Amino acid sequence: MILLTPNTKNSRTSEVDLVPAIQKLKREMNAIILAHYYQVDEIQDVADFIGDSLDLSRKAADTDADVIVFCGVHFMAETAKVLSPHKTVLLPDLAAGCSLAESAPPEAFKAFVDAHPNHLVVNYVNTSAAVKALTDYCVTSSNAVQVINSLPPEQEIIFGPDKYLGDWVRRETGRDMLLWEGSCEVHEIFSEQAISEMMQENPGAKVLVHPECPGPVRDLGDVVGSTKRLLEAVANGPEDATYIVVTEPGIIHKMKEAAPKATFLMAPASVSGSEEGSCTTCNTCPHMKRNTLEKLYLCMKNRSPEIFLDEEIVRKARIPIERMIAIG
Ligand code: 13P
Ligand code: SF4
Repeated sequence: MILLTPNTKNSRTSEVDLVPAIQKLKREMNAIILAHYYQVDEIQDVADFIGDSLDLSRKAADTDADVIVFCGVHFMAETAKVLSPHKTVLLPDLAAGCSLAESAPPEAFKAFVDAHPNHLVVNYVNTSAAVKALTDYCVTSSNAVQVINSLPPEQEIIFGPDKYLGDWVRRETGRDMLLWEGSCEVHEIFSEQAISEMMQENPGAKVLVHPECPGPVRDLGDVVGSTKRLLEAVANGPEDATYIVVTEPGIIHKMKEAAPKATFLMAPASVSGSEEGSCTTCNTCPHMKRNTLEKLYLCMKNRSPEIFLDEEIVRKARIPIERMIAIG
């Protein structure tokens, strides 16, 4: 039982058992709770659907619920609103941002696009709706290679905002794309040296790497792919395998469900100025972890914070997202 206990003397709220209270609100509001794999375990356990960025977008487009409660970060909830503009979209903590999305401010990105008028603009879905409105195709790490391969070979391409994902796609497709200089603060700091040491200490362990990591870290991976792809590798692998996980640790909750007898070793991060591989918590996304079960309950009870978007932005941002969903 997880309780919400009032912390002010004058509060008229009594203790609330959060899980049944959330389930009751869900029925009353005709709501669906969508959660990303990086959410805390308690949120994953109460969600109706857990997925990677692509599957969450698909689910947000398909649902017949009146209210979408998005347990992820701001750009994901915005994407849900763009795809379902007449639905109420709630985000438990409005400050749950993303360093990648923030690395592409709309004005600066527009200037970059305007300076390259012959280029098609392909953006990772980790962007604000305003940047999506300047985009021809959105991609996620699940379908970026497929989307780029679907474009005519002579077409010049801008790829943003993640330079590491862009570099991975460039290598996988052989396409020479112009990359925006953004990065994910979580995946950028995994320590190549500490992972190599872990590999030596655990011969036979399979290394699972998200493509938001820099090239030298990706090169250590037995499997490189989106959260869904990494989870599939575990589900289809030997049941007693050992894995070195090089992405946000929230994914381990579902990996353990998929392979209860397997061993999961979380790859450590390095922090500039400190010893290599010294930080075992810096690989946790501070934005994803802003959402808690308490905030989820309160946002449903108060129907706030809610996502609102300008109609013109919704109209323009919808085009690249729908193209992405249609391709793969
Ligand atoms: P995927 O779940 O699509 O792999 O994305 C990872 C991520 O960083 C989401 O912010
Ligand atoms: Fe953004 Fe990185 Fe956190 Fe994903 S893990 S939400 S890309 S900061």
